[in-house]
Amino acid sequence: MQSFCSFPVQSLFFQLFTLCFLKLGFSQEGFCSAPSILNTQPLYWKVTNPTLSPSHLQDLPGFTRSVYKRDHALITPESHVFSPLPDWINTLGAYLISPSMGSHFVMYLAKMQENSKSGLPPSDVERLVFVLHGVVTLDDASSITHKLEVDSYAYLPPNSKHSFKSDAPATLVIFERRYAYLENCTTEQIIGSTDKQPLLETPGEVFELRKLLPTSLPYDFNIHIMDFQPGEFLNVKEVHYNQHGLLLLEGQGIYRLGDNWYPVQAGDTIWMAPFVPQWYAALGKTKSRYLLYKDVNRNPL
Ligand SMILES: *[C@@H]1O[C@H](CO)[C@@H](O)[C@H](O)[C@H]1NC(C)=O
Repeated sequence: MQSFCSFPVQSLFFQLFTLCFLKLGFSQEGFCSAPSILNTQPLYWKVTNPTLSPSHLQDLPGFTRSVYKRDHALITPESHVFSPLPDWINTLGAYLISPSMGSHFVMYLAKMQENSKSGLPPSDVERLVFVLHGVVTLDDASSITHKLEVDSYAYLPPNSKHSFKSDAPATLVIFERRYAYLENCTTEQIIGSTDKQPLLETPGEVFELRKLLPTSLPYDFNIHIMDFQPGEFLNVKEVHYNQHGLLLLEGQGIYRLGDNWYPVQAGDTIWMAPFVPQWYAALGKTKSRYLLYKDVNRNPL
């Protein structure tokens, strides 16, 4: 420990002396003030001061944490590609999960600009919209206007006329899938916010769970909001028939997908195909929160 600590101090003094002599050599002022030295980085200083912080990794040309495999994908923000969303006005979208990966749903980010307006999903497709940034207004079939702020959401049943509008920049995450009809079952429009949803029992687990949609039979998917304190992790190493789309809203940790262990942080998206082994542990100093699509209430046959 002693030698480990003392080396950089000696090294710093050596650098201070070197810089003093250099400065004296080039100017005759005769002062060697500390601030001017601290502003000067020695040659090759990056080699001995490496950092793995995400902002530095984004500066590394050609580097991405994104991964696309047969049964899972990790899509990190530096890989997002936005383009105009079909049928929307003044809105850019990035599809992060789509059926071409093997999913039966889409998950995408929509960046609404000033004076923007949503389009409708295709027929028989249901939609869940969750506000990540800004404020949007929802006009529904009853022509009642609802104001949706960050952390609030709306579920729109298939074929329901509606539109989201925004006067200022706003970002949404949206899930859509073709509704799996059941005889005599229909879903209803739902508007809510995460903090108004009750905490649910999670037997054998420590994370906090909220569900954004009713658990009743008509609903063929749900969105879970899961909170982990740093150091908490999933007890169950889940392998199941359901598929997932995940957006990490806060925090950082390690996500296990099959035999891969990924460092992840807020802003990352994960696609999990049916039966991919999955597990999460929260790290860092702040809580992890993620939003998770899960198909439910339907026979997989
Ligand atoms: C659907 O409703 C009709 C009319 O009430 C009824 O005859 C039928 O048994 C119901 N189907 C199912 C699967 O419950």
